[in-house]
Amino acid sequence: MSTDIRIGIVTVSDRASAGIYADEGGPAIEAYLARALTSPWTPVARVIPDDRKLIADTLKVLADEEGCCLIVTTGGTGPAPRDVTPEATEDVIEKPMPGFGELMRQVSLTKVPTAILSRQTAGIRGKALIVNLPGRPRAITECLDAVMPAIPYCIDLIEGPYLETDPAVIVAFRPGQKPKT
Ligand code: MTE
Repeated sequence: MSTDIRIGIVTVSDRASAGIYADEGGPAIEAYLARALTSPWTPVARVIPDDRKLIADTLKVLADEEGCCLIVTTGGTGPAPRDVTPEATEDVIEKPMPGFGELMRQVSLTKVPTAILSRQTAGIRGKALIVNLPGRPRAITECLDAVMPAIPYCIDLIEGPYLETDPAVIVAFRPGQKPKT
């Protein structure tokens, strides 16, 4: 088992990747994980346009070559013509994990009715869990709050590194283990 924890953070945005505006999604994810995780980890960040093949290739490189145990995307999950992050994710995953999208939409719907427009999904490729998040920083926090408790155990099950969290931020749920408080 590797102890080197690498986490991919992929911002999918035509405008952020072209420098038209600053990427806010990637830094929001990195800041969230910096608060939530107590295990040392290394971010592997990418900012790329909404191109299905490029997104799929980036996810493959982060999983297969960069050795990321977790890859989080932000953006491109809506219904607009250029929103193709879920399709690119489905192109590369071996095992869909539909519970992530279901839970994120359920939680987000209590905040905004337009959460129904988010097509975000998740899945396993090799020893990497890939999770789509929406693009807005506030939505990122709301969705990570919902799914983060289950992520360390999911990574245990795919034989990845042991992720420890700060229980003041996120209590990682591992069945059969008393949660650390
Ligand atoms: N989820 C939460 N929690 N908060 C939000 O504001 N915005 C929605 C949805 N999910 C939103 C949300 C909107 S308006 C869209 S179009 C979709 O996420 C997709 O966003 P994306 O294209 O930036 O990925």
